Amino acid sequence: MQKISIVGAGRVGESTAQFLARENLCREIVLIDVKDGVPQGAALDIQETAPLFGFDTRLSGSTDGAAMAGSGLVIITAGIPRKPGMSRSDVLDTNVAIIDKVMDDVVKHAPDAMVLVVSNPVDVLTYRAWQKSGWPRHRVFGQAGVLDSSRMAYFVASETGLSVKNIHAMVLGGHGDAMVPLIRYTTIAGIPIENFLDREVIDRIIERTRHGGAEILALKQTSSAYDAPAAAIAEMVDAIVRNRRQVLPTVAILDGEYGSDDVAMGVPCVLGKNGMEEVVVLELNHEEHKMFDESLAGVVADIERLREG
Ligand code: 2OP
Repeated sequence: MQKISIVGAGRVGESTAQFLARENLCREIVLIDVKDGVPQGAALDIQETAPLFGFDTRLSGSTDGAAMAGSGLVIITAGIPRKPGMSRSDVLDTNVAIIDKVMDDVVKHAPDAMVLVVSNPVDVLTYRAWQKSGWPRHRVFGQAGVLDSSRMAYFVASETGLSVKNIHAMVLGGHGDAMVPLIRYTTIAGIPIENFLDREVIDRIIERTRHGGAEILALKQTSSAYDAPAAAIAEMVDAIVRNRRQVLPTVAILDGEYGSDDVAMGVPCVLGKNGMEEVVVLELNHEEHKMFDESLAGVVADIERLREG
C-alpha cells in the first residue's frame, strides 16, 4: 500500500504511526490532527528514527483533511479518551461529532480508501462511520477484538507460566464490559485452555480481559492504553496490506450473521487486500449466545440513542 492516513495524533495515533513505519507497511504515512504542530512534530520525531530502524516510509503531519488524498487506508483514532470511572459510552456524544467531521473529509478527499475506526465507543462509531460513508461494509470496520484477545492471551500466559507464542484467544462482542471472551475458542497449541487452568482462574482471566482497558486507565490516571491498541491496529493493517486473508476479530457491520443486522459488532473476520472480506460465523452455545446478545443490546441501545438524537 502506498499511503495510510492516521487521523488523531494522540498517543494511539502516534504509536500506530511508529509501528506501521517500523514494519515498512506503506511508503507514506500522514498524521492528521486539529492541533497545529502536534501531527507535524510527531511525524518528524518518528521520521528521525528511520535510520535507526531502517525504514523508508515517509511521514508528514497536517491539520488539513485534504492531506489524506490518495490514501488506501484511513485509520481514525481521533476523539476524547475516557477518564477514570467513565465508560466507553460516556464519550459517545463528543466522539460522534468528531467522527462525522472526519468522515466528511474521508468521503471528500479519500473516496477510494478503506476506513479502520479505533475511537471509542468503537462499535457504535464504526457503525456511524459506515453510515456516513454510504460504502459497502467491507471497506469500513473497527479495531477492538485484536486488542482484547491479545490482553486475554497475555493473561493466559501469565496464569499458566507458558509462552505467549502459540496461545490463541478469541474475544467477540462489543468493546465494553460485556465483551465476550470465548473460552471454547481459546487454546494453547490448539489445546483448549480448560486442560491447563481450573474454572476459578479462567473466570479471573475473563473478568480481567473485560476490564483490561480500565485497568490501565486506573493505573495511569491521565492516559488510556496506547501501546497494545497500536500494536493491535498494526496487526490488522499487516493482514490487509500483505493480503494475508488472516482471521482476526474485527468490528464489522453485520448483515444477518449471528442473527443480527444493521449493527456493528466484534466477530471473527477474514482481513485481506479488500479489507473485511468475510465474516466467519462460529457456532455459539446457549451461554455464549446469551453473552453475545447482552453485549449486542448495549451497542444497539447506543445506536438507537444516536438515531433519536
Ligand atoms: C482500551 O481498551 C482505550 O478502549 C481502549 O484500552
